[in-house]
Amino acid sequence: MDIRNTPKQHIIVGVFSLGLVAVFNLLLQIQWSTAFARASYILLFLVMIIGPLMRFKKPTDSGSPLIVPWSWRGELGIWFTLMGLAHFIFVLTERPFNSLIRIGGSGFGLANLLGLVALIWATALMITSLNRVIMYLGIMSWKWLHSFTNVVFYLVSAHFIYFQFFSTYGNIGPDWFGYMAVTMAGIVIILQLSAFTLSVKKYRSEAIKK
Ligand code: HEM
Repeated sequence: MDIRNTPKQHIIVGVFSLGLVAVFNLLLQIQWSTAFARASYILLFLVMIIGPLMRFKKPTDSGSPLIVPWSWRGELGIWFTLMGLAHFIFVLTERPFNSLIRIGGSGFGLANLLGLVALIWATALMITSLNRVIMYLGIMSWKWLHSFTNVVFYLVSAHFIYFQFFSTYGNIGPDWFGYMAVTMAGIVIILQLSAFTLSVKKYRSEAIKK
């Protein structure tokens, strides 16, 4: 659990996020909307793996934040949303909103709708990641709300899988990012299942001892 956001960590995560966008756009010649989308997904991946990893190794307050991954989750989550918002804004500069989500249209509209629902959730989670809001809500309510990060992850995964694997947008078929992003999604799912199995095992061994 990461209930503290620090300016220093925000600067580091911000530089990392914008650095990724710069590499994608300036070095790899990827258009801005896609560059922000890819950076956003990489940040979401980091947020998602920290949760299960925390279950394998109990967090302690000691040690440098550099080697304590859970202390970065809030900052990564906030920057994931900022990158997602930037992606949406760039998409809107290319096409009007009513052509992105159209009833009776193709899978394109549904994929965009999934992205939009994810973005709305992500924005709500970002607002509730601010220190003052966390203190106002209370840790339990905040924890419950933030379990919806999983929903965001699965919505975003369905969203990018459409564009990479099921659309004729750009080149037909996935590129390197499509394969990488699917592998990342697989890693998240494996880690989640492993953490769940570990929790059940721990519970069973404690139940037997009683
Ligand atoms: C948290 C929010 C979002 C995230 C993390 C996200 C992420 C992504 C990712 C990873 C891709 C695939 C890029 C690639 O092919 O390499 C993508 C593509 C796309 N997304 Fe999103 N998306 C989000 C929200 C939205 C929203 C709200 C819309 C529009 C309503 C949208 C419209 C598109 C479109 C049109 C594409 C294909 C063109 C492009 O690559 O820019 N996305 N998005």
